[in-house]
Amino acid sequence: MPAHRHIVPPRAESGHLKLTEKELRAWGEELGRAATPPLLITLTGELGTGKTTLAQSICLGYGVSEEVTSPTYALVHQYSAPRTAVFHIDLYRIESPEQLTNIGWDEIVVARALILVEWPERAGSRLPDDHLPIDLDYMPGDPARRILLAG
Ligand SMILES: Nc1ncnc2c1ncn2[C@@H]1O[C@H](COP(=O)(O)OP(=O)(O)OP(=O)(O)O)[C@@H](O)[C@H]1O
Ligand SMILES: [Mg+2]
Repeated sequence: MPAHRHIVPPRAESGHLKLTEKELRAWGEELGRAATPPLLITLTGELGTGKTTLAQSICLGYGVSEEVTSPTYALVHQYSAPRTAVFHIDLYRIESPEQLTNIGWDEIVVARALILVEWPERAGSRLPDDHLPIDLDYMPGDPARRILLAG
């Protein structure tokens, strides 16, 4: 998304990055430090590719001091940070976009906040166009690295 290009840590600009977990966490922290609210970041990728791991490091860089845990069951976790609130959302378990209403989706997406959404494809057309997309993939032949594509 060109509008958010300037905050994406530079190593991702030329396309795919192949990152160890330590490198991925460092990249996420850098993104979190650079993030300017309001900002919605989508995290796509198969089960276990590192979406929550990346969300944790983005939160850390943004200044969340509480422990960030996966919102798999609650669907939404809210944190406070020096600049704004942070919403970490996991849509894996919703069955249809209509269920977004129950989790307060419409209020969250217009909030002046940092919003991190795992499984954003589940939101269908209710996902705002203006967001920074990040995609994670397994790397064939290297279980310790992930392929990251941002923006
Ligand atoms: N290079 C890497 N980057 C990120 N995580 C890695 C990497 N290598 C190994 N891992 C491990 O992969 C797992 C990623 O789990 P995580 O919960 O972050 O994935 P997820 O994409 O959120 O999964 P889910 O779809 O179930 O929500 C962790 O156990 C982490 O330690
Ligand atoms: Mg997760």
